[in-house]
Amino acid sequence: MDVERFVAEQVAKAGNDIKGRAIIALSGGVDSTVSAILVNRAIGERLLAVYVDTGFMRKGETEKISSMFSRLDLNCRIVDASESFLRELVGVSDPETKRTVIGRKFIKVFEEQAESFGADFLVQGTIAPDWIESGGALRDRIKSHHNVGGLPEQMKLKLFEPVRDLYKDEVRAVARHLGVEVAERQPFPGPGLAIRVLGPITRERIELEREACAIVEEQIERAYTEGKLSALPWQYFSVLLPVRSVGVQGDVRAYGDTVVVRAVKSVDAMTARFSDIPHEILEDISTKMTNRLGSRITRVVYDVTNKPPATIEWE
Ligand code: XMP
Repeated sequence: MDVERFVAEQVAKAGNDIKGRAIIALSGGVDSTVSAILVNRAIGERLLAVYVDTGFMRKGETEKISSMFSRLDLNCRIVDASESFLRELVGVSDPETKRTVIGRKFIKVFEEQAESFGADFLVQGTIAPDWIESGGALRDRIKSHHNVGGLPEQMKLKLFEPVRDLYKDEVRAVARHLGVEVAERQPFPGPGLAIRVLGPITRERIELEREACAIVEEQIERAYTEGKLSALPWQYFSVLLPVRSVGVQGDVRAYGDTVVVRAVKSVDAMTARFSDIPHEILEDISTKMTNRLGSRITRVVYDVTNKPPATIEWE
């Protein structure tokens, strides 16, 4: 792919197609950030970038993102909708329901923002695997990735999707070309931690998963910095299972949840292999997890399944 040409074409197309004002949901990921920058180059202040804190973000993510966006010259707004998302998701266990509810709420928050800004267009960072796996090209629907599946037909905004035909490695190439610091960040699903807490969502389980995920990220990134890992995995995170098991904390019996550590290698998320993480690093993760999270986590396991037959996320 000729990155320079792609950028020039998409900026020109945005300038041509987008009449009036546009709005984009920034997730902090590379896809939406690249899309925002491309469109911003074409229409400047006529683009409003909105970051919605759903309450399902990783630890420290909102702070990180708001400081990153303040360095980009974007017309940006941060909306804290975490309480209202949580209210609607508490008790929900079905993965597709989680996605639908989150998608629907997302759109509602947007519509409010779009209306107050007077937007006519919705810019989205949809990439090829999002729509292919949401039923665009595959016969069997695998998952409705929320930025596609949750989008109601009746939405009045016109869509503009500058990176729709690209795969992740290509979006990253564009990001590097644009000098974007998120270029090397691991992908994070739109529904966030909600689809990494298996079983019914509760505030406590989301908090527990947030802490567990932070430990996986911290230990893997540390191992990479110390040269114990030659490369960072494509994605590395935790999944909180609604499976309890017996443990011992001091001399006392504990009965806590199970955390799965998932780390995969991939180039485009369409297929993936589990990462060969040295046992010493897995042990560090396990020790940190059980030390820091006390009796709430009594079991840490490693997922050794490839995609296919599994998927990267557990839901
Ligand atoms: P799976 O789990 O289908 O994931 O192998 C492929 C890639 O997509 C991400 N993913 C999502 N991204 N909304 C998103 O925006 C979603 O609902 C969603 N589900 C999975 C996943 O993290 C991986 O990078």
